[in-house]
Amino acid sequence: MSLRIRAAVAGDLSAINAIYNYYVPISPATFATEPMTAAERASWWARHGDRYPISVAERAGEVLGWASLSPYSDRGGYRFTVESSVYVRADAQRQGIGQSLMREVLARGARAGFHRVLAKIESSQSGSIALHRDLGFREAGRLDEVGHKFGRWLSTVLLLREQAAEDGDRAI
Ligand SMILES: CC(C)(COP(=O)(O)OP(=O)(O)OC[C@H]1O[C@@H](n2cnc3c(N)ncnc32)[C@H](O)[C@@H]1OP(=O)(O)O)[C@@H](O)C(=O)NCCC(=O)NCCS
Repeated sequence: MSLRIRAAVAGDLSAINAIYNYYVPISPATFATEPMTAAERASWWARHGDRYPISVAERAGEVLGWASLSPYSDRGGYRFTVESSVYVRADAQRQGIGQSLMREVLARGARAGFHRVLAKIESSQSGSIALHRDLGFREAGRLDEVGHKFGRWLSTVLLLREQAAEDGDRAI
């Protein structure tokens, strides 16, 4: 069965949330300490509207992963900057799904006119950092011990991608 990357629809929200919530209690990839409720996920969806892309990867009718570009700040001056997220189901990792999802939302984001994409990644997530570097993200800073989870301090690496207008027209 081939993999299909497509724009998410509201009917994908429970699968999106299940993939995310799986990581909450077991991984520092998200600093969340409580699972996201369906209502919180619905309000996340509403905040994205038509402007901020959310894409899913689907195979044989199952959602295996998702990526999004979310508002970075609600202050108007930041309107051309977005923050990326990508989560792939644990049993579907290392098949190129995360990279395909990111390529898709970056292309959609370029078409929407976003200028910079920020990824905030917990510093021990070397796979995720490698994936983002491959896609043209560059380290823009490090926030030492800003998080605390699993009884230890966590640091964040900030990675920034410069979007070019033509990124929307060609494969990233
Ligand atoms: C990070 C994550 C999204 C990667 O998705 P994926 O579909 O497994 O990654 P891909 O197969 O597309 O990998 C693309 C490249 O990224 C790098 N990479 C991804 N996972 C890696 C890992 N565990 N170790 C080392 N490199 C890794 C590799 O360069 C890889 O290319 P390769 O397989 O040809 O070596 C996925 O592991 C995940 O959902 N992790 C938990 C949540 C998370 O960390 N999300 C990111 C929060 S910012």
